[in-house]
Amino acid sequence: MYRDQIEEIVKKIQFLPPFSAAVKKLMEVASDEDCLTSDIAKAISADPAMASNVLNLVNSSFYGFQNKITSINRAVIVLGQKAIKNLAFCFAVFENFKKSKCCFDPEIFWYHSLSSGLIAQHLAKINKYPNPEETFSIALLHDIGFMVLNIIIPERFERFYNKPIYQHTLKEEKEIFGITHAETGALLLEHWNFPESFCTVIRNHHCAEYVDSTNKNLLDIVKLSDILSYIAGRALIDKHPGKNFFRASKSLNISVEELGSIFFNFEKQLYDIVSFFNITAHDPEPNVNDDIFNTISIASSDQLILSWLKIVLNYFGYNTDPIFIFPDDNKISTSNKVLLVDISKLPLSQFKNIADYTRQTDTYLIMFGKNNDYSDIKYPRLPFIFSKKKFNALLKGNFDLVSL
Ligand SMILES: [Fe+2]
Ligand SMILES: [Fe+2]
Repeated sequence: MYRDQIEEIVKKIQFLPPFSAAVKKLMEVASDEDCLTSDIAKAISADPAMASNVLNLVNSSFYGFQNKITSINRAVIVLGQKAIKNLAFCFAVFENFKKSKCCFDPEIFWYHSLSSGLIAQHLAKINKYPNPEETFSIALLHDIGFMVLNIIIPERFERFYNKPIYQHTLKEEKEIFGITHAETGALLLEHWNFPESFCTVIRNHHCAEYVDSTNKNLLDIVKLSDILSYIAGRALIDKHPGKNFFRASKSLNISVEELGSIFFNFEKQLYDIVSFFNITAHDPEPNVNDDIFNTISIASSDQLILSWLKIVLNYFGYNTDPIFIFPDDNKISTSNKVLLVDISKLPLSQFKNIADYTRQTDTYLIMFGKNNDYSDIKYPRLPFIFSKKKFNALLKGNFDLVSL
């Protein structure tokens, strides 16, 4: 049914500008395991713009080297061949697309890409993944398919992009383009002769199931970086299914505290790197300016969820007051005016008692998570994965932005 549409897209991808000869040469040289530092330096130096970009970035606070690095040769030595190759790729991709006409704000797109890249690199380091630089590049490119679709079929892409948020689904992408942004990104990277691992991970970054075990960790890192950058408010589209969040972090052996540490560490790097790519730095969304929202009570019968909500809301700038709900505990008490209750494992009868309490005490009750028994219960509800924008919208009583 979608064959004609896919053929059209494949054909149009072939006409997209190729990488410069210098980048192709660099890819060729760097793919040889036994290549010399001087060969890589020579390949980078062949493109003066790429060489000066690499040097500037190496000397930026992003890397934080004490002494100024003045030669590409030295840069290759201190950063390592793989890291420098990946950086050069990133510049090349950015250069290729930076002047494209978009129906969306390209800076938001690059913010999402760069923050996913940085977060992926942190995740890779925590997971002791052998090649963190590779994860930076793959995560940076994971949504490049959106950019490609926007360039090659602009009218159809604009139609998709202007749809309401709840219609921004992979199913809708298939309907309109015949192909998803994930598949399109993989096609582009195949066209550019990127390694198989890049293409496979990008093609599957929204798949619920693991398709092959070779790239399992890489895929989990990219999925998780995508979700975390969405929570951090750096999403192109303010909607994320958030599936497999705990499964991915568990399989990578990364604790919620470690995930939280990434939130607090990557912002500074993000500002450094976006300014380097000449992207205007956007401040994160401000807090809702009302004293009653200063401290949020969070209640759950799951210690992991409590820890996670505490980390996320603290990161958003709110204080939290965690309450563990015991199975038979029908009473809850809080002096705060907002109560977020995790309903995923909470029996309805217990919830009804909590709801009575919030009515009597004039506390704003928000349900969190999913539970099919609650389909008739009408309280504001937050999905499992939410951004600060969504959370604030809910505090302000704007329920249009919040859907499960
Ligand atoms: Fe995506
Ligand atoms: Fe994404």
